[in-house]
Amino acid sequence: MKLTKEEQQILQGSEGQTKAKIMQTLVEFGDLFGAEEFVKVTAPSHFVTSFGIGLLKPVYRIMDEIISSGLKTPYPFTMDPRPIDYKNVKCGLLNKLIFSKIMYSKQSLYEEQLAKVGLKDKNAFTCTCYLNEVGNIPKKGDILSWAESSAVVFANSVLGARCNRNSGMLDLFGAILGKVPKFGLLTDEGREANWIIELKTTKLPEAQILGSAIGMKVMEDVPYVKGLDKFLGTELTDDVVSYLKDFGAATASNGAVGLYHIENLTPEAKELKEKLINKDAKIYVIDDAELDRVYQSYPVMWKNKDSKPSLCFIGCPHLSYNQLVSWANKIGQQLSQSGNKKVKVRTIMTSAPDVVEKFSKTPEYTKLKSFGVNISSICPLMYTNNPIAGSKPIITNSNKLRTYSKARYYKDDDILKIICGGK
Ligand code: F3S
Repeated sequence: MKLTKEEQQILQGSEGQTKAKIMQTLVEFGDLFGAEEFVKVTAPSHFVTSFGIGLLKPVYRIMDEIISSGLKTPYPFTMDPRPIDYKNVKCGLLNKLIFSKIMYSKQSLYEEQLAKVGLKDKNAFTCTCYLNEVGNIPKKGDILSWAESSAVVFANSVLGARCNRNSGMLDLFGAILGKVPKFGLLTDEGREANWIIELKTTKLPEAQILGSAIGMKVMEDVPYVKGLDKFLGTELTDDVVSYLKDFGAATASNGAVGLYHIENLTPEAKELKEKLINKDAKIYVIDDAELDRVYQSYPVMWKNKDSKPSLCFIGCPHLSYNQLVSWANKIGQQLSQSGNKKVKVRTIMTSAPDVVEKFSKTPEYTKLKSFGVNISSICPLMYTNNPIAGSKPIITNSNKLRTYSKARYYKDDDILKIICGGK
């Protein structure tokens, strides 16, 4: 990388050894990806490493060094969700011991460290930091230092900000330095689509299956989706934003998509139209049969495939406010059709603390609680990611959770029937 005079001085220690090491790490990161220069970070950060796993000792040492050097992020930052919530996601004694003494034994220490480095507030723990209630919403063209894959793909695609799929700690380093290496999705060429997706389904596809199909096909490439505006329209309404949130998370986790364009809908596609499509772009046609093929291909990882589900997670990525209201209404209707008063499978919905706070003042919240549904702000993946919880027959409507755990994926309507009817 070519460094400015000021950057060279930082590398040589003019602003302290810790900042020099941060600069060195980011220079090596940039060199690896062919970056030629740094570019200024222009908006608050969002960090992926939100869990105080005991084994991550180097992380706590680095945090201590950053704190004792007096370094902080220039803007308050948000974090991915916490891994545990004993009040709303109860677990057995053994599980609790594993969580508190072995897996997440450094949670309190780590949260204290985060507060000293610039954490926004105690409600800052969610992967949907870009929702209005949370307020970490970059503008079009902003340069970011984020790493959470579902948030990066949302910021790039729906908001038109610019961010690479960084890794944990590199996101923090970029924020502290206030600069990130310029390559990939930060450049105009890196944002060109190298796949055209022709959507030919008869109805709006399940967001999580469409995203999964595209992710598995294009991997880390940039898709330009034609035909989805026929169902979603051309405006980013709250419902459309929720759809794209779930769609994007599936593209990013079932593949490695960091940016997608939706014809006539997402900002760059609206502005640049087909000029965004690379001349060598490949074509992937998706119809009802293709979506069904993808859905049927998901393996069932349970020990006993015929087990009765013991737990259901809805909200990975975290649910938006309108999704919470919609689930409350749908569950109410399905329960009365099934002749039940409460859900038959223990169900946990996850959403950002600020969204839950707003939702808790509504009649739908009271309804949902009366149906026996619990609401939490944890990351379901962090909860299931251990041998005890992971061996349970868990169901979910999240393709990200399915991919990274043994949870079984069901479409929204099927999940509804299962939790309300117990079948
Ligand atoms: Fe969010 Fe955790 Fe899912 S960070 S996207 S709830 S895996």
